[in-house]
Amino acid sequence: MAEFIPSRQVQALPANYFTSIDHRINSVVKQGIDVIHLHTGSPDQPTPKPIIQAMNKAAQLHENQGYPPAGGTATLKEAISEFYMREYGVSVDPETEVTVFDGATVAISALPQAMLNPGDVMLTTDPGYPLYFVCPHLAGAETYGIPVHAEDGFLPNYQTIPEKILQKSKLLMLNYPNNPTGAMATKEFFADTVAFSQAHHIPVVHDFAYAAFGFDGKRPLSFLQTPGAKEQGIEVYTLSKTYNMAGFRIGFAVGNASIIRALSQFHDIDHSDVPSAIQDAAAAALLGPQQSVQELCALYEHRRNVLVSGIRAIGWDVIAPQGSFFCWFKAPSGYTSETFADALLERAHVAVAPGAGFGTHGNQFVRAGLLESEERLKEAVIRIKASGILNETPVQN
Ligand SMILES: Cc1ncc(COP(=O)(O)O)c(C=O)c1O
Repeated sequence: MAEFIPSRQVQALPANYFTSIDHRINSVVKQGIDVIHLHTGSPDQPTPKPIIQAMNKAAQLHENQGYPPAGGTATLKEAISEFYMREYGVSVDPETEVTVFDGATVAISALPQAMLNPGDVMLTTDPGYPLYFVCPHLAGAETYGIPVHAEDGFLPNYQTIPEKILQKSKLLMLNYPNNPTGAMATKEFFADTVAFSQAHHIPVVHDFAYAAFGFDGKRPLSFLQTPGAKEQGIEVYTLSKTYNMAGFRIGFAVGNASIIRALSQFHDIDHSDVPSAIQDAAAAALLGPQQSVQELCALYEHRRNVLVSGIRAIGWDVIAPQGSFFCWFKAPSGYTSETFADALLERAHVAVAPGAGFGTHGNQFVRAGLLESEERLKEAVIRIKASGILNETPVQN
């Protein structure tokens, strides 16, 4: 077979950190060992039946069999506008302030290319969602991760950004409830963000992937609920988590019309458009009964309680996440995120994601997802206790 050399752009892309983790986990699974998978972020519950039924019906319609309109069908864009008003009291114009794409991943990859030039910087948090550190490279730009800490609720302090970085910063990417820390944004923080954006003319993108999952009676805030936010930025929403529709590949963005226009124009060329039947299913999800969403949030909260209380009871002092479906646990002293994840995998057969994959400030943490059943989470705690890992000081190499 002839070997062809990929473009310099592809060669410059960093290797996917989590692919090597998957290899390591798979090598243990291949030995016939039952591994408890707390490392992934793929929802384990089925898509609600009414959404599947809407999709089946929509697939039969002749009008859904041609090319879909650029930027989303009128039906879905109007449903999104209604959804934002119903859920957040935020008014968005379906024509100019809404666009539809095939999953939030695509928007995260497209936005730096739609808004940045070579040499520009995209600001985000460290730790943060790994794609935020990769996608700006596609535009010849770079990422600066503002360090965030547990004592500040994993919210960034914009005053700490070095002046040289600030001058080159042309986009700010945030995500609350946060992957990986499980932190939630406050009203004050979002107001601060609007002021920062206004002062430096930096557009804001809020990735609201875990919009539906806030615990202890606290509902996640939409960035667009903040006065002035719609003038400064957009919110990216995915149906992957709220409605367990990860396999449908559908998401949308709402907010500032100039950013929406750039994103839509780029997406239309780079990705084409989302199949109309899937857009109909998404509209049915947004406007249909929302009981399944409340039940899903309650399920994740219950699982969080089971895992966090179980882990604390065996002597590991961990923080409980406020939202999302991830726990961000500090590794016991003497371990890095990788050595601790390896020890858990090899000795307890529990797979977690090492925090180093989420930025340099993740290196003392591991991320555990709440996407296994209550029984499996309890079993994970039993296995960790039985392995004795928590009672040892690791040997330093
Ligand atoms: C913060 C964050 N944004 C975006 C995504 C991807 O969403 P989608 O499934 O719509 O591509 C994820 C998925 O894990 C995520 O955690």
